[in-house]
Amino acid sequence: MAIRLGDEAPDFTAESTEGTISFHEWKGDSWAILFSHPKDFTPVCTTELGRVAALKPEFDKRNVKVIGVSVDGVADHHAWSKDIEEVTGAALNYPLLADPDRKISDLYDMIHPNANDTLTVRSVFIIGPDNKVKLTLTYPASTGRNFDEILRVIDSLQLTANHKVATPADWKHGEDVIITPAVSDEEAAQTFPGFKTVKPYLRTTPQPGA
Ligand code: BEZ
Repeated sequence: MAIRLGDEAPDFTAESTEGTISFHEWKGDSWAILFSHPKDFTPVCTTELGRVAALKPEFDKRNVKVIGVSVDGVADHHAWSKDIEEVTGAALNYPLLADPDRKISDLYDMIHPNANDTLTVRSVFIIGPDNKVKLTLTYPASTGRNFDEILRVIDSLQLTANHKVATPADWKHGEDVIITPAVSDEEAAQTFPGFKTVKPYLRTTPQPGA
């Protein structure tokens, strides 16, 4: 069954490049990104996994644990990781789950049979400290993901988790944010002094804490 925003991220235990992982235990109360790639030893995947490795300090800064998964086995993951480092200059620094029996892929609906009935598509799940799914993304095998966008979404999610704000189109860390409609003007004046009213339903304020 498809996983929807707000659902609890299913738990599982599986082998990975860093040993056996019980997902919820491994994740703890951090944020997490679980992302699938179609296949080891493939070109787009090689660039993606290297990019995620290079961005690991950015994920760490945000208290986000990263974990990848595909239907290939641990031995392939280990062999392929040498290529990833050679090609991208970034060594694998997060676990890659092996899912040869498709246990995780089925739990997270990562196999889309009309795209390919054996390989995982490029899914992304951002999971909050409460283990609830905060974002899902599905890309086809031919399109490598933009992991800067995923960091941008994490910045937005973490901001809105702590403040009564939302983020506008193309928002980036440090830019003005939107006060959520549920906040009255009186409360906004207290919480966001000097906020700007563009329309009665569109009020902006500098990013809290920026
Ligand atoms: C790739 O990573 O390049 C890829 C993987 C599966 C199908 C097509 C492309």
